Amino acid sequence: MNSNNFWKLLGALGLSFLLPWLFLIVIPFIGASNAEPVAYGADEEMEGGVLAYPDKSFLRHGASDYGRQIYAAEGCAYCHTQMVRPTYAGPDMWRPGWGGREAEGLARETQPMDYVMEDFALLGYQRIGQDLSNVGHRITTRELMHRHLSDPKSFDPDSGMPAYRHLYRQSPYGSGLVPTPEAEALVDYLLSLKKDQALPARVLSGR
Ligand code: HEC
Repeated sequence: MNSNNFWKLLGALGLSFLLPWLFLIVIPFIGASNAEPVAYGADEEMEGGVLAYPDKSFLRHGASDYGRQIYAAEGCAYCHTQMVRPTYAGPDMWRPGWGGREAEGLARETQPMDYVMEDFALLGYQRIGQDLSNVGHRITTRELMHRHLSDPKSFDPDSGMPAYRHLYRQSPYGSGLVPTPEAEALVDYLLSLKKDQALPARVLSGR
């Protein structure tokens, strides 16, 4: 190797560390340190000084909060995300129903506020199945939700989703399955997943 090639190699190595450092660390750091806090004005929905979001009917408490713990314990997040990515990062908004109620013009990307009131945001690790941020709009009855958990292959014989039969007991009468309280709570939680409420314009534009 002549010395000219040596310097080229060194330069290329240097660049291959410098560029990712610049784009992944320095530029995002500068962007984040200039972020302005979002203030809420009198014109925006306020309730006792607290922004009225999420809508009270969607606050996850009681059974559906227990269901969220079952979701975490059963490892659903290994195959399902709860994060509708911004369009620059992926085509989530083109996938039917992922962003929420398209017909009503309410479909949108996930915003940080969507995780308000959650002790732990179940963002997920990878997507073997669909994003579940808005699954409560796609599967709307308890019966269908239970069937999806106890026997996903009854919808699609090739389904890659495991059957969560341990959350169900064999019915003493006939061939049916009886959901355990854990399965009921998990279904409460899944039906409550509707992360498409309208947000104040300033939250949406302020990012
Ligand atoms: C090994 C990966 C895997 C795990 C773990 C998993 N799923 Fe799934 N899930 C899938 C796949 C693949 C699909 C799509 C095929 C289908 O609909 O059956 C799916 C589909 C679904 C759907 C239907 C979504 C829709 O939009 O129609 C629901 C609801 C669901 N899963 C809930 C759960 C819950 C709750 C858990 C945890 C108890 C879980 N899944 C665990 C792979 C997984």
